[in-house]
Amino acid sequence: MSKILVTGGLGFIGSHTVVELQSEGYEVVIIDDLSNSSESVLDGITAITGKTPIFEKLDLKDKAGVEAFFKKHSDVEGVIHFAASKAVGESVKEPLLYYENNISTLVYILKELKKLPSAAFIFSSSCTVYGQADELPITENAPVKLAESPYGNTKQIGEEIIRDTCKVTPSLKAIALRYFNPVGAHESVEIGELPIGVPQNLVPFITQTAIGLREELSVFGDDYPTPDGTCIRDYIHVVDLAKAHVVALKRLLEGKNKENYETFNLGTGKGSSVLEVVQAFERVSGEKLKYKIVGRREGDIISAYADTNKANNELGWKTELTLDDAMRSAWNWEKKVRGK
Ligand SMILES: NC(=O)c1ccc[n+]([C@@H]2O[C@H](COP(=O)([O-])OP(=O)(O)OC[C@H]3O[C@@H](n4cnc5c(N)ncnc54)[C@H](O)[C@@H]3O)[C@@H](O)[C@H]2O)c1
Repeated sequence: MSKILVTGGLGFIGSHTVVELQSEGYEVVIIDDLSNSSESVLDGITAITGKTPIFEKLDLKDKAGVEAFFKKHSDVEGVIHFAASKAVGESVKEPLLYYENNISTLVYILKELKKLPSAAFIFSSSCTVYGQADELPITENAPVKLAESPYGNTKQIGEEIIRDTCKVTPSLKAIALRYFNPVGAHESVEIGELPIGVPQNLVPFITQTAIGLREELSVFGDDYPTPDGTCIRDYIHVVDLAKAHVVALKRLLEGKNKENYETFNLGTGKGSSVLEVVQAFERVSGEKLKYKIVGRREGDIISAYADTNKANNELGWKTELTLDDAMRSAWNWEKKVRGK
């Protein structure tokens, strides 16, 4: 079976994808610098799949290190590139850190892939490229809007770099996957999301509040033009998301791609408001969540959810798990992490 490099494979989405790849028989090599993850994630992956992936601790900003890796693993047939910095607020304060980590690493990997007789490349992009889309649900043809943050800009620039490289490199085939809002954990609760510090995302903030780590959840604004006044997002279970990566990779390895650079939205197609997510959490956990409504947060868009037609019909993938499944697994994971 093909050997696949998963960069950032010890992180949230990467670890769930490694599980799905190994379950499908792929040989996985992980590169991670542990800047936002822990080596113990390997134990969780091993507990689920019975297999420990090869792990190389490497900072992908180390160009010589990346070259040496590809010399050693010259039989890599595909790369799923998760490694990146992802905190939107931090990127506003430290733009150069984000441009360096998210762009230079991508360039170094693509330079190595260009040398191979053939290579498949999957890139972690984001629905942030659409900003506040003019039409909902959002299709892949919706225009890419001016980025709201340096982080968002790294995803737009990343996509352009890949597209331009594919144009002149017939041996390279690539897919950019534009994630909506990944949530949840593996149902085995062996792996999940491990945010460092105060979570930036809604679901870990909810579970940390319910477990007693945070005082209360602040809901930013209830006067948006939505049915209950709170912002709407498309929450996708991380296991569904992980499986999409395997489907996309197979598409490239089996030569089923229509163009050598393609983009797909990965979402459920259903928008949920902040209050609906809180209600889903309360329903599956039996806990009452402390929350208060505060003012709007700068930069928040009102509503975003995916048109899933292209992913369903062209990629041949669709979500199987619900928001309740995601909230249940996220809660079980939080309890496990806190020893409760
Ligand atoms: N989680 C989300 O909400 C979301 C949404 C859209 C897109 N994405 C993108 O998906 C990808 C994965 O996100 P995640 O939520 O799993 O993040 P994560 O932080 O959990 O995982 C990223 C991993 O990459 C590693 N890493 C970072 N810089 C590195 C470097 N220079 N060298 C080697 N390893 C490095 C980190 O240690 C971490 O383990 C990222 O590219 C992110 O921008 C995430």
